Amino acid sequence: MAVLGVSFLVNFALLVIPIGVTLGILFGIDAQRSAAGDAPIYTPQPSSPVSGGNPDGGGGTDNKLTTQMYCQKSYGITPDTKGQEFTLNPNQWGWDASEGGGLCMNVTTYDNSTYPTKTTAPAWSITWEYPQGPESQPVHAFPNVLVDGGVFPATVESLAQIGLDVEWTYGVGNKSASTTDETALTTDTVNANVAVDMFLDKDSTSAGNSSKALYEVMVWFADFGAAAQPIGLADGAVTTEVLNGTTFSLYYGTNSLKQNVLTWLASETTDKFNGDLLPLITKLFTLNNANFPSKTDYLGYFAFGSEAYYSSDFVTFSVPKLSIDVTTS
Ligand SMILES: *[C@@H]1O[C@H](CO)[C@@H](O)[C@H](O)[C@H]1NC(C)=O
Ligand SMILES: *[C@@H]1O[C@H](CO)[C@@H](O)[C@H](O)[C@H]1NC(C)=O
Ligand SMILES: *[C@@H]1O[C@H](CO)[C@@H](O)[C@H](O)[C@H]1NC(C)=O
Ligand SMILES: *[C@@H]1O[C@H](CO)[C@@H](O)[C@H](O)[C@H]1NC(C)=O
Ligand SMILES: *[C@@H]1O[C@H](CO)[C@@H](O)[C@H](O)[C@H]1NC(C)=O
Repeated sequence: MAVLGVSFLVNFALLVIPIGVTLGILFGIDAQRSAAGDAPIYTPQPSSPVSGGNPDGGGGTDNKLTTQMYCQKSYGITPDTKGQEFTLNPNQWGWDASEGGGLCMNVTTYDNSTYPTKTTAPAWSITWEYPQGPESQPVHAFPNVLVDGGVFPATVESLAQIGLDVEWTYGVGNKSASTTDETALTTDTVNANVAVDMFLDKDSTSAGNSSKALYEVMVWFADFGAAAQPIGLADGAVTTEVLNGTTFSLYYGTNSLKQNVLTWLASETTDKFNGDLLPLITKLFTLNNANFPSKTDYLGYFAFGSEAYYSSDFVTFSVPKLSIDVTTS
């Protein structure tokens, strides 16, 4: 537990910036944030013995893969790696245990800390169930993998690419689904999205603070259920952009924290994507809108995950393949 305490401290700065202001939620947010440092409600049990000294995975000498399950409310884990560092956050920021339901996150780490590429993230999945929340605060969690290791903050103009190569599935039940069956998700009233979440600001520190940053830019690869709607959907799309065959439409609005929220929504469920996301930010500069970011602004936060609203049964979001390759020009 001593070592866990250390990882808790290391990750605390990340935890106090949970996501979830996307649907305009001020109510209770301070309470949620101060709750972000809660002790684990469940002591992680390795599903196979962890080699090396790091309970977050990696740091060992053999060539095995280790899957470990984490059911804590919020604190993230940062596996040892010889490449790009990632932190996996359960981030149940809008959930109170008294509501029932919950979430567990499985993370598969390489004992030798050497992933297939320098930018490959650990494979991970979440299994969750939450009851329907109030309209004022429908999101229970944003479990995600965060690009860590000092890549951000960086000004947008200093970036050459934000390469994202991802494959995911969403399915009913406690096992990873091989494909996403949208009809089954509808039957189980699953309300969730699959999204990249980014924050930008002209100030480099504020850019890393999800409640303070002036701009939130999201990229939604899927939205399931009526509750999962981008802010500004009713106003219609501002513009569209095609990235490697996927068409994204831009929606704009502000949330209750008065942040400008820009959401690029894929025209259909996109469970495999390989491309550079940077054009979805630079396109904003060309739209001559004073409420949109500019190229000298800092990108301070980049995470990929699923906003979990509610579901009548356990569902599993699985990310077997993920690489995020950010390079500067
Ligand atoms: C690390 O382990 C993986 C998985 O077994 C293996 O493919 C890879 O070759 C190993 N890398 C090194 C440097 O030992
Ligand atoms: C399904 O997973 C959840 C969360 O991980 C757990 O609470 C529940 O007991 C599991 N159900 C079964 C049938 O394994
Ligand atoms: C997560 O890990 C637990 C414990 O090893 C296992 O029972 C469960 O099936 C795993 N879930 C998924 C979705 O693979
Ligand atoms: C983020 O900004 C909020 C609002 O200004 C502030 O209360 C909070 O302390 C900041 N968080 C961090 C980690 O600096
Ligand atoms: C487009 O997607 C294909 C299929 O995943 C991939 O091989 C190719 O590299 C991608 N192209 C770009 C420009 O990212």
